[in-house]
Amino acid sequence: MLDRLRRPLRDLRISVTDRCNFRCTYCMPKEVFGPDYMFLKRAELLSFEEITRIARLFAQCGVRKIRLTGGEPLMRKDIDRLVGMLAELDGIEDIAMTTNGSLLRKMAVKLKKAGLKRVTVSLDSLDNERFGQINGQGVTADTVLDGIQAAEEAGFKIKINMMVRKGVNEEDILPMLEHFRGTGHILRFIEYMDVGNANGWRMDDVVTKQDILTTIRTRYEIEPVEANYYGEVANRFRIKGSKDEFGIIASVTDPFCGSCTRARLSADGSVYTCLFASKGHSLRNPMRNGATDEELLALIESIWGNRADRYSEERGRKGPRHKIEMSYIGG
Ligand code: GTP
Ligand code: 5AD
Ligand code: SF4
Ligand code: SF4
Repeated sequence: MLDRLRRPLRDLRISVTDRCNFRCTYCMPKEVFGPDYMFLKRAELLSFEEITRIARLFAQCGVRKIRLTGGEPLMRKDIDRLVGMLAELDGIEDIAMTTNGSLLRKMAVKLKKAGLKRVTVSLDSLDNERFGQINGQGVTADTVLDGIQAAEEAGFKIKINMMVRKGVNEEDILPMLEHFRGTGHILRFIEYMDVGNANGWRMDDVVTKQDILTTIRTRYEIEPVEANYYGEVANRFRIKGSKDEFGIIASVTDPFCGSCTRARLSADGSVYTCLFASKGHSLRNPMRNGATDEELLALIESIWGNRADRYSEERGRKGPRHKIEMSYIGG
């Protein structure tokens, strides 16, 4: 199954909740996501059975990899039960989760038992105070590091995502690299992107891939590593003469739309064909109105078949548009 730019459908990123216990300044700033913010209501959320049914249909359309996201996916009650249901599906080879790590100490073992294969933990600074400011709730870096430790003890393969933003956490690049060297965890530096409308993004705030490489080269000799698989979003590098790998995700200065095989499912059951889409296609409504598997499959095929998104490659050329928020679609 190919889209209009001849890209296959391979990954499904499922957001299980639009809520999060953090208020990262670049994602869910407190001023926008305050006490009166209208999050999705329970009845609007897909049930685990509904999510699993949709995931099964996507697997029939070529999806091999599922990533659970949020908001914060571990805020969804009994999420390990959903992992278990997804792990049973034919065709799904990989199930991963992107999490802020704060609840991993409580959940890691359950998730592993249920069949989750990998976790990716976001951590933007090792400095407790700076990290507390970034996440808007004063959560310490130590809490997240303890979550990472719990994931390690449970036997997960782990990646760490660090979003780098000018004037905020550039000075954490080298300490983070140093900290995760030799742990086997793969640290990825992410360029600050213009997702959503809430964060007031400006190009001046972006620390580019070249900036990040320049900083790293002040201390290390590095070499590029081949991509792991077709469409991998991170450029991989290694510290010369070691096994220490890190990655850079340069969605702004080196976009990767040409090989984008990702569909996104929101917590209320809409399919988005791009992280920067303004509109989704509801599967929940037809499903709750009694659509058959065949009808839903035809709908998925037509959504993917009509897809021509390549936002990151066109950035700035098309003028402003309304975009969905990252916390709603999970990055
Ligand atoms: P792996 O399965 O480990 O390769 O994970 P991944 O790198 O695909 O996923 P992850 O959730 O860790 O994504 C890392 C960062 O890349 C996040 O900040 C995402 O928002 C960003 N990202 C992932 N997919 C896309 C995409 O399709 N477009 C853009 N612009 N950014 C993306
Ligand atoms: N630009 C880049 N990355 C972002 N993330 C959240 N908002 C942005 C943004 N505007 C990252 C988080 C997390 C992942 C899910 O996406 O830091 O690591
Ligand atoms: Fe921060 Fe992730 Fe929560 Fe957004 S969803 S506020 S990036 S922890
Ligand atoms: Fe895919 Fe859209 Fe990201 Fe491009 S900007 S890689 S099309 S999700």
